[in-house]
Amino acid sequence: MSERSLVLLKPDAVQRGLIGKLVSRLEDRGLKIAGMKLMRLDLPLARRHYAEHVEKPFFGGLAEFMMSSPIVAMAVEGKGAVEAVRSAMGVTNPQSAAPGTIRGDFALDIGRNLIHGSDSPESAERELAIFFAEEELFDYARDSERWITES
Ligand code: RTP
Ligand code: MG
Repeated sequence: MSERSLVLLKPDAVQRGLIGKLVSRLEDRGLKIAGMKLMRLDLPLARRHYAEHVEKPFFGGLAEFMMSSPIVAMAVEGKGAVEAVRSAMGVTNPQSAAPGTIRGDFALDIGRNLIHGSDSPESAERELAIFFAEEELFDYARDSERWITES
């Protein structure tokens, strides 16, 4: 099985009706959805997911924002999925994000940057375990696979 990343479509993406467009960006890249659900974060879950940021000054605003509406949680799979998702997202602050990236094309503010993607394979493993039970993740083949990766 190739690499997986945890992707969250944040409350602003859901509220702005961008779920379909953002999922399409990732699918168009060749990435495969191995798990997907609509859910609402509570504080314990937000703290667990953003454990590295809990002590930072922006955490309060970040947690409030992340709990303000349902989000879409996805396990996204493919060759180099972690880096592929990060590059498709663009840098954290949309003001600096390149055109052609999700944040560069759809966002303006660091506190409304639409999407989360795991920042390393180790983070992906930790985060996927927070959001998905084993039986919610699907290992399946697509007929298109050989047209996306050579090996
Ligand atoms: P994410 O974890 O959401 O995928 O974003 P990221 O890796 O690009 O950025 P990270 O440094 O992990 O920060 C997590 C989220 O916290 C908010 N943030 N606000 N006001 C600030 O200075 C600030 N810094 C970070 C952003 O929403 C960022 O996505
Ligand atoms: Mg991060």
